[in-house]
Amino acid sequence: MPSSKILTAVAWPYANGPRHIGHVAGFGVPSDVFSRYQRMAGNEVLMVSGTDEHGTPIQVQAEKEGVTARELADRYNRVIAEDLQRLGLSYDLFTRTTTRNHYDVVQQMFLTLLDNGYIFPRTELGAISPSTGRTLPDRYIEGTCPICGYESARGDQCDNCGNQLDPIDLINPRSKINGETPKFVETEQFFLDLPAFTEVLGDWLGRQRHWRPNVQKFAMNLLDDLKPRAITRDLDWGVPVPLDGWRDRNDKRIYVWFDAVIGYLSASIEWAARSGDPQAWRKFWQPGPDGTKPQGYYFMGKDNIVFHAEIWPAMLFGYSGIGTQGGQPGPYGELERPFEVVSSEFLTMEGKKFSSSRNVVIYVGDMLSRYDADALRYYLTSAGPENQDTDFTWSEFVRRNNDELVAGWGNLVNRTIAMTAKNLGTIPGPGELTDADRSLLTSSVTAFDTVGELIGRNRQKAALGEVMKLVGEANKYLSDTAPWKLKNDDPARMASVLHTTLQVVDDVKTLMTPFLPGSSQRVFDALGGSGIWAAMPELVQVDEPTAVGSPSYSVLTGDYQTQAKWESSPIPVGRELAAPTPVFTKLDVSVVDEELARLAEAAAAAE
Ligand code: MF3
Ligand code: ZN
Repeated sequence: MPSSKILTAVAWPYANGPRHIGHVAGFGVPSDVFSRYQRMAGNEVLMVSGTDEHGTPIQVQAEKEGVTARELADRYNRVIAEDLQRLGLSYDLFTRTTTRNHYDVVQQMFLTLLDNGYIFPRTELGAISPSTGRTLPDRYIEGTCPICGYESARGDQCDNCGNQLDPIDLINPRSKINGETPKFVETEQFFLDLPAFTEVLGDWLGRQRHWRPNVQKFAMNLLDDLKPRAITRDLDWGVPVPLDGWRDRNDKRIYVWFDAVIGYLSASIEWAARSGDPQAWRKFWQPGPDGTKPQGYYFMGKDNIVFHAEIWPAMLFGYSGIGTQGGQPGPYGELERPFEVVSSEFLTMEGKKFSSSRNVVIYVGDMLSRYDADALRYYLTSAGPENQDTDFTWSEFVRRNNDELVAGWGNLVNRTIAMTAKNLGTIPGPGELTDADRSLLTSSVTAFDTVGELIGRNRQKAALGEVMKLVGEANKYLSDTAPWKLKNDDPARMASVLHTTLQVVDDVKTLMTPFLPGSSQRVFDALGGSGIWAAMPELVQVDEPTAVGSPSYSVLTGDYQTQAKWESSPIPVGRELAAPTPVFTKLDVSVVDEELARLAEAAAAAE
């Protein structure tokens, strides 16, 4: 089969603080599992993202910390990139929205949408903070939803009924920053004409039957009431409006969400420029010479669906000249819309909503300073919010680590390799195989199809469950055949059993690689492999590809071309094996109380 071109588009984390494990449960780990699998399956993958550095979330936090927005963005861009690196997320490029390249692409998209008639200026009532005179962004206004009566609806949308809102429609609006009642004043902004896309969006969404049903349904429901959306704001931090009379104004900027979603395109273009082939991004955004379309998979938490299933597709349609106004594709040409919006539900923690301000939070960096990245990755995949809200608890984290990773998979690896090293020293040949041997080997080989198919459809929880089922089968096989008892009476049978089990360990290592890349590399090493099996991202310092003399910055990138293929490969008979060191670490149950005490202390300090 020819290789497919796959764009893995990962939601851009705000650079307003370190990210917590709820964030990486939504956009991080799932997008990496998917990308690693696709690369192993022989497809060409481009995985891009970066820090989202504009908008009010950054400004509000900068004020709190007494630094400028740019200083704050620099600080947390670094922290976030380091955390994502330690988690092993294999971005081809993780960049930022404050690059010259990004500004250029955003402005170009704005101008094309304007030319095609999908952006227009209008004077409207906008909310400002009476005490600062600045735009009070939709997200920072809270009030009662006029549609469903939910009391904590936000100015831009109601998380309860999912409807898009205008702040002025909220009943009892109040500022989330300082509680004051916003003032509504006349101000001129540019609007994206969403109603011009109602039809094309409806047709397009209706065809997305491969999406998770709740995501497609949610997106379809949004179409009932599309209104033009303001895409500029009264702010001094963001991408300037690229028009005479606007460009130099210090009080108007492009709205952060309009600029951030364009990041998927600008990061692809930046990646191509760095790769030495500036046109290379096109194969992930436009049909190839034979007409085959690339597929864009967008990963995020459910609060981002509206931006990825409605606004971004509308922008891509408009840029391509598709909508009630028609038009011409902009300079880049027609651009593909998302193939799938892969949205997860929410993760809570010990029954509570994550809250950085109340310190109800576990930061990725803290977690990884105490536990193995794969322990967290395993938890988030096996017990994460793939299609329903789930709760992180420390006792479940310790239980899954100890009972499943250590006692299940880790134990299979250790006893198989240790027994072989001790009794034989090298990987034995198969000898004569019994039905039991063959049946286990068959399960192992067929797992590649089953698990691969599930990951391809983003049923990652079920996919990992299948791998663990195979681990269970192999552990049972070992107990049933008890090779340790055969050493003297039937050494040939012992060798066959160890051969069979080593083959399955090798296969499971491959099947686990997308989920648990770090420990899969360790198993690969323990099986006597050499070189890189699961490539890891690196943080490198770079200059702007297009603007000479701009400040340099760091990006995450990597070379993910490896020997790892999504297939069972025969283990090399005769290769020497040494006694392994444990692949996973068992956690003492006291960890649960320690972590709960730490949480309680932090929450008390925040009061
Ligand atoms: N920064 C946003 C959030 O954390 C996500 C932006 S995704 C993008 O909710 F597509 F806009 F980049
Ligand atoms: Zn509502």
